[in-house]
Amino acid sequence: MEIKNQIDNIILIGFMGTGKSTVGKELVEQLGWDFVDTDVCIVEEAGMTIPEIFERFGEAHFRDLEHRVLAKVLEQRQQIVSTGGGAVLREENRTLMGSKGMVVALTATKETIFDRVKQDENRPLLQGGAWQKIEALLKEREHAYSFANLTIATDDLDKHQIAKRIMQACS
Ligand code: S3P
Repeated sequence: MEIKNQIDNIILIGFMGTGKSTVGKELVEQLGWDFVDTDVCIVEEAGMTIPEIFERFGEAHFRDLEHRVLAKVLEQRQQIVSTGGGAVLREENRTLMGSKGMVVALTATKETIFDRVKQDENRPLLQGGAWQKIEALLKEREHAYSFANLTIATDDLDKHQIAKRIMQACS
């Protein structure tokens, strides 16, 4: 399937556990573009894990790093970019993403998200009382994902179906 020439990148946004990395890797299989996970770039740049960054320097520092990484990554083209769930919080990031590619928001109900992330210790924002935190954060952030060009509810779809919908929308 041919992707429209004017689409520089496919940028995946969405709450933790909505499947951005999984779907991103599936798109790479189909398109042969590069896969970039901004969380992985942040860990490489900081030389420590995400929980360590939060613990030692706080969330604001993490968000600064996240912005720098995103801006740098989006200088390139033909990438599938999987972003952290909070990358949409800053307006400057939303504007940047909107100008650098097709932005696809993946969504899921809080039940699905809880089920997918409950075993995960690598997400500092969900440590301790995860259920209540997911509910509160989802509510708080709902509006921030709405700038996407395309939104896909992932609860009842597998990665192949989701990737197919994205490819169709981009072709
Ligand atoms: C965050 C989501 C995480 C990671 C960090 C903060 C968030 O990425 O960037 O823990 O604020 O939602 P994933 O969405 O890939 O889990």
